[in-house]
Amino acid sequence: MSASLLLSWREGVSVEDGEGEFRLQGPGSRVVLRQLSPAVRAALSQLVPPGRDEDHLDELVLDAGGPTALAGWYHRLNDLAQRGFLCRAVTLDGRRLLTLVPVSPSFAFLPLNPIPDCPHQLSRFAYLRREGRTFVLESPLAHARLVLEDPRVVGLVGALAEPGSPSELIGRVPALPPDTIPLLLGVLVTAGMIQAIRPGGADAADESPALQTWEFHDLLFHSRIRQGRSDAPYGATYRMVGRLDPPPTLKPERTGEGLDLYRPADPLGADDPRLAEVVGRRRSIREYSDRPITDRQLGEFLFRVARVTAEQEVDLDTPRGVVRMGFAARPYPAGGGLYELEVYAAIQSCDGLAPGLYHYDPRRHRLGPVCGKTVEFGRLVADAAASAGIPTESVQVVLILSSRFQRVAWKYASIAYALTLKHVGVMYQTMYLTATAMNLAPCGLGGGDADLFARAAGTDYYAETSVGEFLLGSVGEAGTV
Ligand SMILES: Cc1cc2nc3c(=O)[nH]c(=O)nc-3n(C[C@H](O)[C@H](O)[C@H](O)COP(=O)(O)O)c2cc1C
Repeated sequence: MSASLLLSWREGVSVEDGEGEFRLQGPGSRVVLRQLSPAVRAALSQLVPPGRDEDHLDELVLDAGGPTALAGWYHRLNDLAQRGFLCRAVTLDGRRLLTLVPVSPSFAFLPLNPIPDCPHQLSRFAYLRREGRTFVLESPLAHARLVLEDPRVVGLVGALAEPGSPSELIGRVPALPPDTIPLLLGVLVTAGMIQAIRPGGADAADESPALQTWEFHDLLFHSRIRQGRSDAPYGATYRMVGRLDPPPTLKPERTGEGLDLYRPADPLGADDPRLAEVVGRRRSIREYSDRPITDRQLGEFLFRVARVTAEQEVDLDTPRGVVRMGFAARPYPAGGGLYELEVYAAIQSCDGLAPGLYHYDPRRHRLGPVCGKTVEFGRLVADAAASAGIPTESVQVVLILSSRFQRVAWKYASIAYALTLKHVGVMYQTMYLTATAMNLAPCGLGGGDADLFARAAGTDYYAETSVGEFLLGSVGEAGTV
């Protein structure tokens, strides 16, 4: 049994070897290679899958063109890897064990050097997941993805939870022939999935103070919502067209009684201070007047922040045909004009409104009762009070923002949830400024229990749940602005 390291075109790459040039079509781009030396040309023509041994290709180029041609070959490989045309596979008797697929223009295609016989360990950022019928090993530190095509390699990755030198790992994973282990570890090192550990030391990656502060989920989220470390589709791809209908413009209205809210007269905010003054005065206020906020103030606040200002149906040109979709504008900006955020009011104390959880209907400017003073309602209010460090009894209104996630995820790839969180920030500032202009007490909150909210509101956690909380009340002595 013998292991090899094969270089080949990545799956999905088609090659045309025309007169004087090589034309490559990859999953995301196209490239034409011209003025190739005969040595490089001969080597490139061997990259048709399953590909050729990397050492063999190096020798071929060296023999035909000398060291200059070899340097040109490495340069060419690096360029092709960064553009996503190449992959590198460890094979055993012609069967793939592990394939490295570069996913970013920052990938550095370095020759695979023998790794030292010192302990190596899996990065705390590496994660394994199923994609189709294979396991993939990915990491927000890496510019390549590893496809694990043999369960024995999954065993090796598992064995790397504990630091181990190549010779120790040969003992830990007896199912793999010994000569495959150094090769597999070499690929894991070049992909950035494992690193050498100093004797008695911690995970080497943890030694950088900048990296130490990142939690796994935060860095993964960051690396996937920004471009540069993934070859996944990105942006307005209309990813769900053809599979799901466009999600509704507004949350379907609740049945049962609704309470019409006060509509402020035109022109809105005629008595408001100037914008610069409002911005200058804005503060988070956590102390309230003994006289609670009124239904009229809450009505005006919601009207100014979140009402539907216009509605229209639009024929959208998508990559899979024209789709008709509804839009409802609001006073604040939102990506794609999709407005997936819903507003709920957990009212503990508001003159003119009974305590309980309400849903705001932004089209009709009404509050729909969701539940009364249930255990869940009490916990939502208590959690908000704890976040602000104030007594639960003092809370007047907790505005809870929920997201109908499908509304954005239907259209946007990679960035849907990030957009929703940006919208929460946009709404917070709109609420802060509106409350300040109205002489109310605003305070944004940084966290809340999305499972608890889903139970209280009777929503499906995966379809709609809370993403933001905001305290609102009447201004007391200390907070008078
Ligand atoms: C996204 C966000 C989250 C916040 N989370 C909390 C919180 O959980 N508890 C709290 O008391 N204040 C919270 N605040 C208010 C900040 O503490 C406050 O804005 C900051 O101290 C600056 O003070 P100022 O708003 O009075 O200018 C939050 C504000 C924002 C914008």
